[in-house]
Amino acid sequence: MSKQRKTFITLVEKAMADAEEMAPEDLVFSYKGILYPSTVCSPEAFKALESFEARSDDVFLAGYPKSGTNWVGQILTDLVATSRKNNEGTRSLDDDELEEFPYLEVGDAEKYQRMADLPSRRVIFTHLTPQKLPASVFMNKAKILLLIRNPKDVATSFYHFANRLSPLPSYKTWGDFFTAFMNGEMVFGSYFDYIFEWNKHTDDANVMTITYEELKENRALGVKRISEFFELQLTDEEIQGVVDRSSFQAMKENSEKTHGAFGNVLFRKGGVSDWKNIFNEDDNQKMDATFEEQLGGTKLGEKLKYKVYCKA
Ligand code: A3P
Repeated sequence: MSKQRKTFITLVEKAMADAEEMAPEDLVFSYKGILYPSTVCSPEAFKALESFEARSDDVFLAGYPKSGTNWVGQILTDLVATSRKNNEGTRSLDDDELEEFPYLEVGDAEKYQRMADLPSRRVIFTHLTPQKLPASVFMNKAKILLLIRNPKDVATSFYHFANRLSPLPSYKTWGDFFTAFMNGEMVFGSYFDYIFEWNKHTDDANVMTITYEELKENRALGVKRISEFFELQLTDEEIQGVVDRSSFQAMKENSEKTHGAFGNVLFRKGGVSDWKNIFNEDDNQKMDATFEEQLGGTKLGEKLKYKVYCKA
Protein backbone atom coordinates (compact mmCIF):
# COMPACT_ATOMS: atom_id res chain seq x y z
CA MET A 1 0.00 0.00 0.00
CA SER A 2 1.35 3.43 -0.86
CA LYS A 3 2.24 5.86 1.90
CA GLN A 4 -0.57 8.14 0.80
CA ARG A 5 -3.22 5.47 1.28
CA LYS A 6 -1.78 4.56 4.67
CA THR A 7 -1.96 8.24 5.64
CA PHE A 8 -5.57 8.32 4.48
CA ILE A 9 -6.72 5.13 6.21
CA THR A 10 -4.90 5.83 9.49
CA LEU A 11 -6.41 9.30 9.78
CA VAL A 12 -9.97 8.21 8.94
CA GLU A 13 -9.90 5.16 11.20
CA LYS A 14 -8.53 7.24 14.08
CA ALA A 15 -11.34 9.76 13.55
CA MET A 16 -13.89 6.94 13.61
CA ALA A 17 -12.45 5.51 16.85
CA ASP A 18 -12.14 8.96 18.51
CA ALA A 19 -15.74 9.81 17.62
CA GLU A 20 -17.02 6.71 19.42
CA GLU A 21 -15.77 8.25 22.68
CA MET A 22 -17.19 11.72 22.06
CA ALA A 23 -20.46 13.35 23.03
CA PRO A 24 -22.61 14.09 19.93
CA GLU A 25 -22.41 17.86 20.51
CA ASP A 26 -18.59 17.74 20.39
CA LEU A 27 -18.41 16.16 16.94
CA VAL A 28 -18.57 19.50 15.16
CA PHE A 29 -17.23 22.99 15.77
CA SER A 30 -18.02 26.27 14.12
CA TYR A 31 -15.29 28.33 12.45
CA LYS A 32 -16.14 31.65 10.77
CA GLY A 33 -19.79 30.64 10.52
CA ILE A 34 -19.33 27.13 9.07
CA LEU A 35 -19.52 23.76 10.85
CA TYR A 36 -16.60 21.33 10.53
CA PRO A 37 -15.96 17.82 11.90
CA SER A 38 -13.79 18.20 15.00
CA THR A 39 -12.13 14.78 14.68
CA VAL A 40 -10.25 15.87 11.53
CA CYS A 41 -10.33 19.68 11.36
CA SER A 42 -9.32 22.34 13.87
CA PRO A 43 -9.32 26.14 14.21
CA GLU A 44 -5.49 26.02 14.48
CA ALA A 45 -5.20 24.25 11.14
CA PHE A 46 -7.61 26.75 9.52
CA LYS A 47 -5.44 29.59 10.80
CA ALA A 48 -2.31 27.90 9.42
CA LEU A 49 -4.07 27.25 6.10
CA GLU A 50 -4.21 31.00 5.41
CA SER A 51 -0.49 31.00 4.68
CA PHE A 52 -0.57 27.94 2.41
CA GLU A 53 1.25 28.65 -0.84
CA ALA A 54 -0.52 27.22 -3.86
CA ARG A 55 1.50 26.58 -7.02
CA SER A 56 0.39 27.25 -10.58
CA ASP A 57 0.88 23.56 -11.37
CA ASP A 58 -1.17 22.28 -8.42
CA VAL A 59 -4.08 20.06 -9.42
CA PHE A 60 -7.13 21.04 -7.37
CA LEU A 61 -10.41 19.19 -7.06
CA ALA A 62 -13.23 21.17 -5.44
CA GLY A 63 -16.52 19.52 -4.54
CA TYR A 64 -19.26 19.74 -1.93
CA PRO A 65 -19.31 16.62 0.32
CA LYS A 66 -21.02 13.63 -1.30
CA SER A 67 -20.60 14.93 -4.84
CA GLY A 68 -18.23 12.09 -5.75
CA THR A 69 -14.99 13.69 -4.57
CA ASN A 70 -13.34 10.36 -3.72
CA TRP A 71 -14.25 9.09 -7.19
CA VAL A 72 -12.97 12.05 -9.16
CA GLY A 73 -10.10 12.35 -6.69
CA GLN A 74 -8.95 8.88 -7.69
CA ILE A 75 -9.28 9.77 -11.39
CA LEU A 76 -7.12 12.86 -10.92
CA THR A 77 -4.54 11.13 -8.74
CA ASP A 78 -4.30 8.27 -11.22
CA LEU A 79 -3.97 10.64 -14.20
CA VAL A 80 -1.21 12.64 -12.53
CA ALA A 81 0.65 9.53 -11.33
CA THR A 82 0.49 7.97 -14.80
CA SER A 83 1.72 11.13 -16.52
CA ARG A 84 4.49 11.48 -13.94
CA LYS A 85 5.78 8.02 -14.75
CA ASN A 86 6.16 9.17 -18.34
CA ASN A 87 8.10 12.32 -17.52
CA GLU A 88 11.69 11.39 -17.10
CA GLY A 89 13.61 13.89 -15.08
CA THR A 90 10.64 14.73 -12.86
CA ARG A 91 10.98 13.58 -9.29
CA SER A 92 8.66 10.69 -8.74
CA LEU A 93 6.52 10.12 -5.70
CA ASP A 94 7.56 6.77 -4.33
CA ASP A 95 6.26 5.02 -1.27
CA ASP A 96 8.85 6.48 1.07
CA GLU A 97 8.07 10.07 0.32
CA LEU A 98 5.84 11.96 2.66
CA GLU A 99 2.34 12.28 1.32
CA GLU A 100 -0.49 14.12 2.99
CA PHE A 101 -4.17 13.47 3.46
CA PRO A 102 -5.55 14.75 0.13
CA TYR A 103 -8.25 17.09 1.51
CA LEU A 104 -6.57 20.45 2.06
CA GLU A 105 -8.55 21.43 5.16
CA VAL A 106 -8.16 18.07 6.92
CA GLY A 107 -5.15 17.52 9.16
CA ASP A 108 -2.90 19.19 11.68
CA ALA A 109 -1.63 22.75 11.64
CA GLU A 110 1.89 21.72 10.54
CA LYS A 111 0.59 20.02 7.42
CA TYR A 112 1.03 23.11 5.22
CA GLN A 113 4.72 23.41 6.03
CA ARG A 114 5.20 19.77 5.10
CA MET A 115 3.25 20.28 1.89
CA ALA A 116 5.76 22.93 0.83
CA ASP A 117 8.32 20.12 0.49
CA LEU A 118 6.16 17.92 -1.71
CA PRO A 119 7.18 17.68 -5.35
CA SER A 120 4.95 18.97 -8.15
CA ARG A 121 2.34 18.26 -9.23
CA ARG A 122 0.46 18.10 -5.98
CA VAL A 123 -3.09 16.76 -6.17
CA ILE A 124 -5.28 18.53 -3.62
CA PHE A 125 -8.97 18.01 -2.85
CA THR A 126 -11.15 20.49 -1.02
CA HIS A 127 -14.74 20.92 0.21
CA LEU A 128 -14.20 24.66 0.79
CA THR A 129 -15.94 27.48 -1.04
CA PRO A 130 -13.65 29.77 -3.04
CA GLN A 131 -13.72 32.59 -0.49
CA LYS A 132 -12.52 30.17 2.22
CA LEU A 133 -9.58 28.94 0.15
CA PRO A 134 -6.16 30.52 0.75
CA ALA A 135 -5.70 33.59 -1.45
CA SER A 136 -2.69 32.04 -3.20
CA VAL A 137 -4.91 29.47 -4.96
CA PHE A 138 -6.43 32.18 -7.14
CA MET A 139 -3.43 34.53 -7.16
CA ASN A 140 -1.10 31.82 -8.45
CA LYS A 141 -3.73 30.55 -10.87
CA ALA A 142 -3.73 26.93 -9.78
CA LYS A 143 -6.06 24.90 -12.00
CA ILE A 144 -9.25 23.73 -10.32
CA LEU A 145 -11.64 21.01 -11.35
CA LEU A 146 -15.03 21.82 -9.86
CA LEU A 147 -17.25 18.78 -9.35
CA ILE A 148 -20.98 19.29 -8.80
CA ARG A 149 -23.85 16.84 -8.27
CA ASN A 150 -27.61 17.32 -8.20
CA PRO A 151 -28.83 18.40 -4.75
CA LYS A 152 -31.35 15.61 -4.23
CA ASP A 153 -28.77 12.86 -4.69
CA VAL A 154 -26.24 14.82 -2.61
CA ALA A 155 -28.76 15.08 0.25
CA THR A 156 -29.64 11.39 -0.01
CA SER A 157 -26.00 10.33 -0.03
CA PHE A 158 -25.19 12.70 2.86
CA TYR A 159 -28.03 11.33 4.99
CA HIS A 160 -26.89 7.72 4.70
CA PHE A 161 -23.24 8.73 5.15
CA ALA A 162 -23.91 10.79 8.29
CA ASN A 163 -25.91 7.99 9.87
CA ARG A 164 -23.23 5.40 9.17
CA LEU A 165 -20.09 7.37 9.96
CA SER A 166 -19.37 8.01 13.62
CA PRO A 167 -17.46 11.33 13.20
CA LEU A 168 -20.57 13.01 11.77
CA PRO A 169 -23.72 13.95 13.69
CA SER A 170 -26.46 11.38 13.02
CA TYR A 171 -30.17 11.99 12.54
CA LYS A 172 -33.15 10.18 14.05
CA THR A 173 -35.23 10.59 10.89
CA TRP A 174 -34.82 11.59 7.26
CA GLY A 175 -37.07 14.56 8.07
CA ASP A 176 -34.62 15.82 10.70
CA PHE A 177 -31.77 15.51 8.25
CA PHE A 178 -33.68 17.19 5.42
CA THR A 179 -34.49 20.20 7.59
CA ALA A 180 -30.83 20.56 8.60
CA PHE A 181 -29.70 20.18 4.97
CA MET A 182 -32.11 22.81 3.71
CA ASN A 183 -31.02 25.17 6.51
CA GLY A 184 -27.36 24.69 5.62
CA GLU A 185 -26.58 23.16 9.01
CA MET A 186 -24.16 20.65 7.53
CA VAL A 187 -20.45 20.16 8.00
CA PHE A 188 -18.75 22.31 5.33
CA GLY A 189 -21.84 24.49 5.08
CA SER A 190 -24.84 24.85 2.82
CA TYR A 191 -25.03 23.09 -0.56
CA PHE A 192 -26.83 26.09 -2.04
CA ASP A 193 -24.24 28.59 -0.77
CA TYR A 194 -21.50 26.32 -2.09
CA ILE A 195 -22.87 26.30 -5.64
CA PHE A 196 -23.71 30.01 -5.45
CA GLU A 197 -20.15 30.95 -4.43
CA TRP A 198 -18.46 28.73 -7.00
CA ASN A 199 -20.80 30.08 -9.64
CA LYS A 200 -18.79 33.32 -9.43
CA HIS A 201 -15.79 31.42 -10.85
CA THR A 202 -17.37 29.52 -13.72
CA ASP A 203 -15.81 31.88 -16.26
CA ASP A 204 -12.31 31.69 -14.77
CA ALA A 205 -9.91 30.19 -17.33
CA ASN A 206 -8.34 28.04 -14.62
CA VAL A 207 -11.63 26.50 -13.43
CA MET A 208 -13.30 23.60 -15.23
CA THR A 209 -16.69 22.29 -14.11
CA ILE A 210 -17.83 18.72 -14.43
CA THR A 211 -21.00 17.11 -13.12
CA TYR A 212 -21.29 13.74 -11.40
CA GLU A 213 -24.11 12.90 -13.79
CA GLU A 214 -22.14 13.59 -16.98
CA LEU A 215 -19.29 11.49 -15.67
CA LYS A 216 -21.73 8.66 -14.96
CA GLU A 217 -23.09 9.05 -18.47
CA ASN A 218 -19.71 8.92 -20.21
CA ARG A 219 -16.72 8.32 -17.97
CA ALA A 220 -14.28 7.93 -20.85
CA LEU A 221 -15.13 11.37 -22.23
CA GLY A 222 -14.99 12.96 -18.77
CA VAL A 223 -11.58 11.49 -17.98
CA LYS A 224 -10.23 12.69 -21.36
CA ARG A 225 -11.55 16.22 -20.77
CA ILE A 226 -10.02 16.30 -17.28
CA SER A 227 -6.68 15.10 -18.60
CA GLU A 228 -6.67 17.76 -21.34
CA PHE A 229 -7.63 20.53 -18.94
CA PHE A 230 -4.63 19.77 -16.72
CA GLU A 231 -2.42 19.32 -19.81
CA LEU A 232 -1.37 15.82 -18.82
CA GLN A 233 0.34 13.90 -21.60
CA LEU A 234 -1.26 10.46 -21.66
CA THR A 235 -1.77 7.95 -24.44
CA ASP A 236 -5.26 6.68 -25.26
CA GLU A 237 -4.32 3.38 -23.67
CA GLU A 238 -3.23 5.08 -20.46
CA ILE A 239 -6.45 7.09 -20.36
CA GLN A 240 -8.40 3.87 -20.80
CA GLY A 241 -6.55 2.37 -17.81
CA VAL A 242 -7.67 5.30 -15.64
CA VAL A 243 -11.24 4.89 -16.94
CA ASP A 244 -11.24 1.17 -16.14
CA ARG A 245 -9.85 1.65 -12.65
CA SER A 246 -12.48 4.26 -11.78
CA SER A 247 -15.68 2.30 -12.34
CA PHE A 248 -17.84 2.06 -9.22
CA GLN A 249 -17.35 -1.70 -9.19
CA ALA A 250 -13.56 -1.50 -9.51
CA MET A 251 -13.27 1.15 -6.80
CA LYS A 252 -15.59 -0.72 -4.45
CA GLU A 253 -13.68 -3.95 -4.92
CA ASN A 254 -10.39 -2.18 -4.24
CA SER A 255 -11.73 -0.12 -1.34
CA GLU A 256 -10.29 -2.20 1.48
CA LYS A 257 -6.83 -1.26 0.15
CA THR A 258 -7.59 2.35 -0.71
CA HIS A 259 -10.04 3.38 2.04
CA GLY A 260 -9.97 0.67 4.74
CA ALA A 261 -13.18 0.28 6.81
CA PHE A 262 -14.34 3.71 5.60
CA GLY A 263 -14.75 2.20 2.11
CA ASN A 264 -17.77 0.18 3.27
CA VAL A 265 -19.55 3.41 4.15
CA LEU A 266 -18.36 5.47 1.20
CA PHE A 267 -19.06 3.19 -1.76
CA ARG A 268 -22.79 2.93 -1.25
CA LYS A 269 -24.81 2.94 -4.51
CA GLY A 270 -22.85 5.18 -6.87
CA GLY A 271 -25.81 5.97 -9.08
CA VAL A 272 -28.20 8.70 -10.17
CA SER A 273 -31.73 9.27 -8.77
CA ASP A 274 -31.54 7.31 -5.52
CA TRP A 275 -33.36 10.34 -4.05
CA LYS A 276 -36.57 8.88 -5.49
CA ASN A 277 -36.43 6.28 -2.73
CA ILE A 278 -36.49 8.81 0.09
CA PHE A 279 -37.92 12.21 -0.93
CA ASN A 280 -41.63 12.67 -0.30
CA GLU A 281 -43.84 15.16 -2.12
CA ASP A 282 -43.33 17.87 0.45
CA ASP A 283 -39.52 17.44 0.31
CA ASN A 284 -39.67 17.68 -3.49
CA GLN A 285 -41.65 20.88 -3.35
CA LYS A 286 -39.33 22.45 -0.80
CA MET A 287 -36.19 21.48 -2.72
CA ASP A 288 -37.62 22.59 -6.07
CA ALA A 289 -38.59 25.99 -4.65
CA THR A 290 -35.27 26.55 -2.87
CA PHE A 291 -33.27 25.53 -5.91
CA GLU A 292 -35.20 27.93 -8.10
CA GLU A 293 -34.92 30.73 -5.56
CA GLN A 294 -31.21 30.36 -4.83
CA LEU A 295 -29.71 28.90 -8.00
CA GLY A 296 -32.29 29.44 -10.74
CA GLY A 297 -30.73 31.28 -13.69
CA THR A 298 -27.14 30.69 -12.55
CA LYS A 299 -24.68 28.96 -14.86
CA LEU A 300 -24.00 26.15 -12.41
CA GLY A 301 -27.73 25.80 -11.81
CA GLU A 302 -28.15 25.24 -15.55
CA LYS A 303 -25.24 22.84 -15.67
CA LEU A 304 -26.85 20.69 -12.98
CA LYS A 305 -29.81 20.03 -15.33
CA TYR A 306 -32.25 20.12 -12.45
CA LYS A 307 -35.25 19.40 -14.69
CA VAL A 308 -33.61 16.21 -15.96
CA TYR A 309 -32.23 14.86 -12.71
CA CYS A 310 -34.44 16.29 -9.97
CA LYS A 311 -38.02 16.53 -11.19
CA ALA A 312 -40.33 13.97 -9.62
P1 A3P B 1 -23.88 7.44 -3.01
O1 A3P B 1 -23.94 7.62 -1.54
O2 A3P B 1 -25.04 8.05 -3.74
O3 A3P B 1 -23.67 6.01 -3.40
P2 A3P B 1 -17.84 11.74 -1.82
O4 A3P B 1 -16.67 10.97 -2.30
O5 A3P B 1 -17.78 13.18 -2.26
O6 A3P B 1 -18.09 11.56 -0.38
O7 A3P B 1 -19.11 11.16 -2.60
C1 A3P B 1 -19.60 9.87 -2.30
C2 A3P B 1 -20.56 9.42 -3.39
O8 A3P B 1 -19.82 9.10 -4.58
C3 A3P B 1 -21.31 8.15 -2.98
O9 A3P B 1 -22.61 8.24 -3.57
C4 A3P B 1 -20.45 7.09 -3.65
O10 A3P B 1 -21.11 5.85 -3.86
C5 A3P B 1 -20.15 7.79 -4.98
N1 A3P B 1 -19.03 7.15 -5.70
C6 A3P B 1 -17.84 6.77 -5.21
N2 A3P B 1 -17.10 6.19 -6.16
C7 A3P B 1 -17.85 6.20 -7.30
C8 A3P B 1 -17.64 5.72 -8.63
N3 A3P B 1 -16.50 5.12 -8.97
N4 A3P B 1 -18.63 5.91 -9.52
C9 A3P B 1 -19.77 6.53 -9.18
N5 A3P B 1 -20.03 6.99 -7.93
C10 A3P B 1 -19.09 6.83 -7.00
